[in-house]
Amino acid sequence: MRILITGGAGYVGSACCRALRATGHEAFAYDDLSLGNAAAVDGAGLHLGDVRDSDRLAALMRRLAIDTVIHLAGLSSVAESVAAPARYRDVNLGGTEAVLRAMARSGVRRLLFSSTGSVYGDGTGAPMAEADVPAPGSPYAASKLAAEQRIGEQVREQGIAAVVFRYFNAAGADPDGRHGEARAGELRLIPTILRSLTRPRSELAVFGGDWPTPDGTCVRDFVHVGDIVRAHMLACGSMAPGRLGLYNVGSGAGSSVLEVIRECGRVTGIEPRYRILERRPGDAVANVADVARISAALGWQPRRSSLRSIVESAWRWHRTHPDGYAGGGGRARPAEQTIVEALG
Ligand SMILES: NC(=O)c1ccc[n+]([C@@H]2O[C@H](COP(=O)([O-])OP(=O)(O)OC[C@H]3O[C@@H](n4cnc5c(N)ncnc54)[C@H](O)[C@@H]3O)[C@@H](O)[C@H]2O)c1
Repeated sequence: MRILITGGAGYVGSACCRALRATGHEAFAYDDLSLGNAAAVDGAGLHLGDVRDSDRLAALMRRLAIDTVIHLAGLSSVAESVAAPARYRDVNLGGTEAVLRAMARSGVRRLLFSSTGSVYGDGTGAPMAEADVPAPGSPYAASKLAAEQRIGEQVREQGIAAVVFRYFNAAGADPDGRHGEARAGELRLIPTILRSLTRPRSELAVFGGDWPTPDGTCVRDFVHVGDIVRAHMLACGSMAPGRLGLYNVGSGAGSSVLEVIRECGRVTGIEPRYRILERRPGDAVANVADVARISAALGWQPRRSSLRSIVESAWRWHRTHPDGYAGGGGRARPAEQTIVEALG
């Protein structure tokens, strides 16, 4: 296949690029590098541009003879989306509309899209299934749900083949420790904790210690980036015109923020320092995936998504790359600004 990956220099996108190329596909990354890293793409073609620029995308799709688009470019900080909802709608929904327009103009009829488990909103801790009614609790989740709906319309009206993945919390790094999470923007939970351990003065802020969970902190479902990539590879082979596949991608198990902090301490042998602050607007109490549908439809099961395996692989990356990709993103943050991003 000849695949264009928007957001291909990002954490999940670059892992997709590398895996697709390693299995004989032609993968091309398209990214504005606002959050991603050119070094992460590792040999795949990287094309610079904004995902909202549909003319540029259409020309590129034609020139590269693309047959499939994996659309991952977007913004994904819940806290930032609460502060700047219009920007999130513009990039996440507007970007998806631009991708769909470019596909229509260049004759590309297969699309995979990364949505989020946070479209389900606040959970009780029970796993959330695709048949559950979405109730997005943040502008980020709302922008992703709106993008899903636009893709659904395009499937019905134009007969394209599409797969929407609702990832829960992507985490972990390549087994060889050469690639991992290194965003130029706000870091997510596990990288934030591990970064705090390579900078001895850092203290983590945990948002909310009085949630209705066993230890009072939010519960999330962490899924290894390698398992997410495998879901994409399986889906690429199962797409059909006029059909929309909607799948959760998670481990099916929840871990609280404090459990993750403790696991990072056990794996690294270094005790993280943290402080509990007020709850943060937009966060959900619990967000755990029911993965029965993807398992039945694609034969997908999480293989590397135990918390231990995720933290061990992430630590191999962070220990050897304390500042992320040299000269790229993942900039060090001042210790006092180190924060915990609970929801990806
Ligand atoms: N990582 C997670 O836990 C998680 C969970 C649910 C959903 N998702 C979604 O999966 C996708 C990939 O996530 P990720 O973790 O790799 O994020 P990431 O931030 O590492 O990657 C996103 C990429 O998109 C690029 N980008 C942003 N705005 C752009 C624009 N206007 N034009 C072109 N490129 C742009 C960034 O430079 C970056 O390389 C995102 O859409 C995210 O919302 C991620």
